[in-house]
Amino acid sequence: MMSERYRATYERSIVDAESFWLDAAKAIDWIAPPRTAWSDRSGWFAGATLNSCYNAVDRHVAAGRGGQTALIYDSPVTGTIRHYSYVELLDQVSATAGMLERLGVGKGDRVVLYMPMIPETAFAMLACARLGAIHSVVFGGFAPPELAKRIDDARPRLLLTASCGIEGSRQIAYKPLVDQALALAAHAVEHVVVMQRPMLAAELTAPRDLDWSKLLADSEPVSCVPVAAEDPLYILYTSGTTGTPKGVVRDNGGHAVALTWSMRHIYGIRPGDVFWAASDVGWVVGHSYIVYGPLIAGATTILFEGKPVGTPDAGTYWRTIARHGVEIFFTAPTAMRAIRKEDPDARHLKAIGTGNLRAVFLAGERADPDTLAWAEAVTGLPVIDHWWQTELGWPAAATCFGLGDTRRRRGSAGFPVPGYVFDILSDEGTPVPAGDTGHVVLKTPLPPGCYRSLWNNPAGYAKSFATFDGYYETGDAGHVDGDGFVNIMGRTDDIINVAGHRLSTGQMEQIVASQPEIAECAVIGVDDALKGMVPVAFAVTKAGIEADGALPDAIVARVRAELGAVAALREVHVVRALPKTRSGKILRAVLRSLANGKDVATPPTIEDADVLTEYRRLFRLG
Ligand code: COA
Ligand code: AMP
Repeated sequence: MMSERYRATYERSIVDAESFWLDAAKAIDWIAPPRTAWSDRSGWFAGATLNSCYNAVDRHVAAGRGGQTALIYDSPVTGTIRHYSYVELLDQVSATAGMLERLGVGKGDRVVLYMPMIPETAFAMLACARLGAIHSVVFGGFAPPELAKRIDDARPRLLLTASCGIEGSRQIAYKPLVDQALALAAHAVEHVVVMQRPMLAAELTAPRDLDWSKLLADSEPVSCVPVAAEDPLYILYTSGTTGTPKGVVRDNGGHAVALTWSMRHIYGIRPGDVFWAASDVGWVVGHSYIVYGPLIAGATTILFEGKPVGTPDAGTYWRTIARHGVEIFFTAPTAMRAIRKEDPDARHLKAIGTGNLRAVFLAGERADPDTLAWAEAVTGLPVIDHWWQTELGWPAAATCFGLGDTRRRRGSAGFPVPGYVFDILSDEGTPVPAGDTGHVVLKTPLPPGCYRSLWNNPAGYAKSFATFDGYYETGDAGHVDGDGFVNIMGRTDDIINVAGHRLSTGQMEQIVASQPEIAECAVIGVDDALKGMVPVAFAVTKAGIEADGALPDAIVARVRAELGAVAALREVHVVRALPKTRSGKILRAVLRSLANGKDVATPPTIEDADVLTEYRRLFRLG
């Protein structure tokens, strides 16, 4: 049933956005409080000043809740569980800020983090915020060339890393990857600060490389620097449609207000509650809901170093939930599918229970109704699909659990979240009838917390607002059904979601095409029972070059070396030709359909109908 609270809140957020967001802003401790919410010229809360780290850490200590647990580090891969109270978090963060300040980091400087899921990563993010510096976390699954691109774009003063990450039972040495990235990058960082983990020591080369723990031991705590609401808090690179990642810039003020509002009204979390987002700090979910959201809201957050399965088994999520009294759990559908695959009867869950858990939220990719039904059946709890993206920073469609809404429909990501106005438009920009699929767009101005620029890329930013006048183009396709449920069905561009990770097939095509034997190629996303989608490449060799059996492996290795293991490209087909229209456009939809095992009629625009015969044979169709 629609809750009256949701209805009234949504309506007010739209008809009286100014007072709605100024009221929401009261949940933040400002240095100079905002007098206006939105301004066309300066964005959200122009003229106000604050510090995001103060709001996430210091203010809870000042309010007398310093003894409450702020962060729990639970690492099944190292057999470690550590609790940090808000006082301990303050000590760690202010000392880390002191270390960064001594190395010359100040307001507006960039700091790149290439870090595993250890508490020091969160400390360092908050320490940057404390100094008004701009962090840019690069996910550990990206290869050196990708890290190099981000270094060259962000031009950081420092790079922070650790000696290794742990992937299941494997150690991944990060420092050699950082060294390679810095060798590739045109920009030189002043220092690389390395957290030496006990299981692997990294080699440090003076004077550039420094030991994190030694520096920290000598550092003096520093206090928070005031920043303007619209000053950047972080840059987070995400896949665009080209090989160049987009540097999404998040402001301080709008972000703090939106996240606090979302913790309470979407997730139903109050100070002192325990919240766990099982993601990685390298993604937006990690930024918003492992670090900033729960801490600004005064909750307890969990930083989990492990995987849904294999660390050590498919019960690890339920064990973590029960052990720490997690009330709201956020994960990706892929993780649920991985758990279900290993433990279809949920034996672990039955043995462990769900403790204090009240609801599970899913996002990052479409939640297939079957997985959702399974998760609801085994947990006996509401499992809530909700939708957002790096650009937005917080959910745009959800069932607002914290506002008492209970309406859910499997396959749908819920309803517009207060602050967001959805429309579904045709290619021509006109609204489509209810139930018809079209471009999912959001009315501008977007609410607080959403991106206001792309780093060094104003044209890229403007592009997302140029196609449909008065709207932000999300890049997703979907429909709104007769009851108002928003359904997100997939992308309208060449971005794919692999195990909840956002990747560009266009970028993979550039890498495949750089293989010397290859003349042209296409990479598409094919449905996968575990990862949602996986990339599959089709490559045509240059005239006169005979492909041998080693070519697909060489291409897989190239994508892994240039983009990273996270690309998960494992299937490469060397083909005679790509299916194309007479005007030379690759028939990607046809390719996707055939690769998914669904035959289609040969399109009349095809240049050479015989080409499809080969693909039908390849996928055993017809
Ligand atoms: N550092 C280094 N390498 C990493 C990495 C990191 N932080 N994260 C992933 N990788 C590597 C993996 O080790 C793997 O390498 P491999 O090809 O050598 O095995 C590769 O990248 C692909 O990783 P992943 O997509 O995680 O697949 P997987 O087969 O290891 O695990 C799942 C499958 C479903 C268990 C896993 O994808 C998962 O937990 N997904 C949930 C993701 C999630 O929660 N996303 C949140 C976004 S909201
Ligand atoms: P990211 O920016 O990495 O968070 O990826 C955002 C993209 O993931 C969105 O544009 C969607 O394509 C997809 N996505 C995220 N959440 C959902 C969801 N709940 N349902 C469908 N697609 C989703």
